[in-house]
Amino acid sequence: MQVIDARADTARINQLFYRHIPESGLRNYWHPVAMSRDITEQPTAMTLMGDPVVLLRRQGRAYAVRNECPHRGTRLSKGSCEFPGSRTITCRYHGWTFDVADGRLVAALTDGPDSPIVGKARVRTYPVEERKGIVWIWLADSAPVPVEQDIPNGLLQADEVHTVRRIAPGNWRWHVENPGLGHATFLHRDSAYMRIVDMFGYAQGPHAVLGQEGEDGEWLMEKFEAMGSNRDYPGLGQWPRHRFGEFIPLGDFVGGPMGVRTIVSVRLPGIVRVARFPIEGALYYEWFVQTDADHYLYFQVACGYPKTWLQRASWLTRFFAWGRWAGMVRFNAQDLDMTEDSHAYAKTHGSNDPAPLYRPDGFQLAWRRYAVDHLRGGHGTSLHSDRAVPQTATS
Ligand code: FES
Ligand SMILES: [Fe+2]
Repeated sequence: MQVIDARADTARINQLFYRHIPESGLRNYWHPVAMSRDITEQPTAMTLMGDPVVLLRRQGRAYAVRNECPHRGTRLSKGSCEFPGSRTITCRYHGWTFDVADGRLVAALTDGPDSPIVGKARVRTYPVEERKGIVWIWLADSAPVPVEQDIPNGLLQADEVHTVRRIAPGNWRWHVENPGLGHATFLHRDSAYMRIVDMFGYAQGPHAVLGQEGEDGEWLMEKFEAMGSNRDYPGLGQWPRHRFGEFIPLGDFVGGPMGVRTIVSVRLPGIVRVARFPIEGALYYEWFVQTDADHYLYFQVACGYPKTWLQRASWLTRFFAWGRWAGMVRFNAQDLDMTEDSHAYAKTHGSNDPAPLYRPDGFQLAWRRYAVDHLRGGHGTSLHSDRAVPQTATS
C-alpha cells in the first residue's frame, strides 16, 4: 500500500494531466460500450471518442467497423447484409461489400463479380470482445492487451451483472473526479437513497492509498480516519441537523464483497468503484466513455455474488425494488447534474482545477498523479522523469 499525496506538487501534476490525459478519452484501454444482447445483425451506430463506429453481429460474434464507407462516405449503419450467414456488410449507396472482421472490400455489387476494386479498399475495424454480457471495444491503432486486464476481477467473477447506461452531457474527466468525500456527504443528503441514513457531516483525515484490497486488483482508494462528529460551526450553529426518519446508522465498512472495504476507489482508464452500492452485498463500477466533444456514455455496472437461490432472490429483489432506481438512476443523476457544470466551466476557463485546494481535493489530485504515472502507452509521462517535462513548461 502506498500513500499518494500530490498536494505539494499541484501545478506540475495539473500540467502533466492536461497534456497526457486527453478530454477525448484514453484509447489504449478496453471500454464497455453496449450490452451483448443489444448488438444484433442490425447495425448499431455510435460515436466513440469522436470516431463514427458501427457495431453489429455476424456468425454469432460482435464486430465494430468505422461507420464510413471509404467510397463516398456513406454511413455503413445504413447498409444491409446481402449474403446471409457471411461476415459482411453491404453499403447502401453503391453496394460495396466489406468483411467486418478485417475490413477488406470483398465485392462491389454494382461492378460485377470481376470488379478490379475488390481487395483494394478497406474500412477500419476495431477489436471487440464480449465478457459478462457486455461488449468491450479497443479504439487505439495499437495491438490490444487481453481484455481481462481492463475488467476488474469483481466484475469478471460476478454472478449477477446489471447495468444502467445513458449518454450524459459533459466530459469524462470531470466525472472520474467527482466521487469522493468532498461531495458525497453533502450532495446526496437529500436523495431518496440517503434520506433514511444518518449521514455524518464530513470525513476526518482523508487520504489516497494505491494498493490491493481483497481480490479486486490494484486501485487508488480513498481512505479516511474517522467520520467527523463535531457539528458545531462557530457563529453559525449546528450542522448537520438530525432529520426525522434517519434511522440507519452509517456503519463500519468491513467485510464488503470481494474483500473490498473502501467505499470509493478509482483506476485507469477512469473506472470508479463503489463498495456496497447500490445495495448491500454489491460491488459497483462505472465507466465514462467520451462520445463526442460534449457527451459521454455513462456506463454503470452493479455486480452481485449470491450463491444460493435464496440469496439470489434476495439480491434481485433489493436491487430491482430499490438499489437500481434509488441508487444507480436517481442518486447518480445528482452527480451528472454537477459534472455537467464542471464541463461548462472547463470549456470557459480552459481547465477545471480544484482551486483553491481544500483537504478533500487530495483524492482528485492523487488520481491525476496516479493517472499520469501509470498511463498505458504513456510516452515517458512519469512525474519522476525529467525528460517528460520540457524546460519551458516547468518554469
Ligand atoms: S458510398 Fe459506399 S458504396 Fe459508394
Ligand atoms: Fe456522488
